[in-house]
Amino acid sequence: MLVTQIRLEHVESFHECLDTVAKENRFLAQTEALPLEIITSFVKDSIENDAIQYVALVNNQVVGWADIFPHWASTLAHRGNLGMGVHPAYRGQGIGEQRLRTCLKKARSKGISRIELETRADNFPSINLYKKLGFVTEVTKKNAMKFNETFFDSIQMSLIFE
Ligand SMILES: CC(C)(COP(=O)(O)OP(=O)(O)OC[C@H]1O[C@@H](n2cnc3c(N)ncnc32)[C@H](O)[C@@H]1OP(=O)(O)O)[C@@H](O)C(=O)NCCC(=O)NCCS
Repeated sequence: MLVTQIRLEHVESFHECLDTVAKENRFLAQTEALPLEIITSFVKDSIENDAIQYVALVNNQVVGWADIFPHWASTLAHRGNLGMGVHPAYRGQGIGEQRLRTCLKKARSKGISRIELETRADNFPSINLYKKLGFVTEVTKKNAMKFNETFFDSIQMSLIFE
């Protein structure tokens, strides 16, 4: 397994991996990936801007991703929003933790001092991973997510680099 910054050659398998995790309909806010053309243009922007967007590869196929995007507004640009996922067949092998550590290191080097995320309150694998790396829970949002007509609480977590 290799962790690397995303490149254009990874777009199709990144899109497939994202779509697979989204269609689990449990962990991500989206229930399917955006169309390939949109993801391709998004990745092109990322590459041009040296964005914090890493993928894990097995046989050159994306099996997981993690990214931290800073806020566009200048007074909020020290805040980075984290997103990540691992293909179900590759979970529990350290891939998520490795990519997250890589992203955090790069975010810090780029002057992002506050990493934030929102996750479903019953998504214990992700919550445990975030806590392991020093994130703390800031707030619980009641009924913040709705999957198949059922509401779920979400929690907002953050990590601040002192
Ligand atoms: C959350 C996720 C990215 C973790 O990736 P992963 O590669 O499976 O995790 P790792 O193997 O690197 O595990 C790292 C830590 O995460 C936690 N963790 C991972 N899987 C877990 C599980 N099934 N139950 C409880 N904790 C778990 C543990 O703290 C673990 O550390 P440990 O091995 O010392 O106990 C992965 O489960 C996933 O893709 N889930 C679906 C998408 C998602 O939830 N994205 C985040 C939305 S905010």
